[in-house]
Amino acid sequence: MNTPVPQSSPYAPAPKPIKKPDGIRHIIAVISGKGGVGKSTVCANLATALLRRGSKVGVMDADLTGHSQSILFNTKTPLAELRHNAIPADCFGVKVASFGFLYPDAKSVIWRGPMISNGIKSLFMQTQWGELDYLLIDLPPGTSDAQLTIIRDIPLDGGIVVTTPDSLASAVAERGLTMLLELKKPVLGIVENMCDTVCPHCGKAIDVFGEGVAGDIARRHSTEVLGRVPIDTTMRNATASRTPITILSPNSQSSKAFTGIGEAVARILP
Ligand SMILES: Nc1ncnc2c1ncn2[C@@H]1O[C@H](COP(=O)(O)OP(=O)(O)OP(=O)(O)O)[C@@H](O)[C@H]1O
Ligand SMILES: [Mg+2]
Repeated sequence: MNTPVPQSSPYAPAPKPIKKPDGIRHIIAVISGKGGVGKSTVCANLATALLRRGSKVGVMDADLTGHSQSILFNTKTPLAELRHNAIPADCFGVKVASFGFLYPDAKSVIWRGPMISNGIKSLFMQTQWGELDYLLIDLPPGTSDAQLTIIRDIPLDGGIVVTTPDSLASAVAERGLTMLLELKKPVLGIVENMCDTVCPHCGKAIDVFGEGVAGDIARRHSTEVLGRVPIDTTMRNATASRTPITILSPNSQSSKAFTGIGEAVARILP
């Protein structure tokens, strides 16, 4: 939490900051400069990890064109109800707002800059979130329009940065962290995802992308590593059944890692 904040920022202040809704206690962005490192997966499983601790949790899928939360989460809420009312879907107890519940999976959402920014703000302000201890926002990759809207205009309590351990991904992922700092928002910590995995045949650990990069980034920015999630080959079963791995296999190594990350987040933002 004690990350040094640069004194000058090239960004203009938000014209009208959005007020935090009364019922929401903590708003957390899950961010990375790099795509495909597991932001959406971490977001969904952190949500269920926090839920299992007894918190009320929501997820906002701010990746409007690459929405994934409606694929990671099944819902029993009738889709017609979601399409006509601004209510989040009830997904295993997590309240999820995603464009994916409004459109069929394969339908492309073809939006450009201002539409994206307005869409994100509308999704945040118009969704009837009710009472939440944590609202997690799943960001698209990169550091441009969508991220600027979320980090600058939405009343965030902080951001969690996701990276994989290899040097290319981590160098680009780190830009998500420095964007938070530039915009004077707290960095809650870093999640190192897709760390080593265990060979299903011989049981030995395989060091796929290396390790420890998140620790280096954390030291550079005086923040902490919230947890390391292994590559879990059963994750594909979770996704295929639209059930986060923390619910499908709560005793797996990856689920235990997500539980630990939930504990770390609850310690930082109780
Ligand atoms: N720990 C893991 N073990 C195995 N597979 C994983 C793990 N984390 C993520 N994946 C898989 O990696 C792929 C990318 O994950 P995900 O979509 O969550 O990344 P992302 O950062 O949100 O991507 P984008 O930048 O496109 O939004 C998915 O197929 C997901 O199932
Ligand atoms: Mg994603």
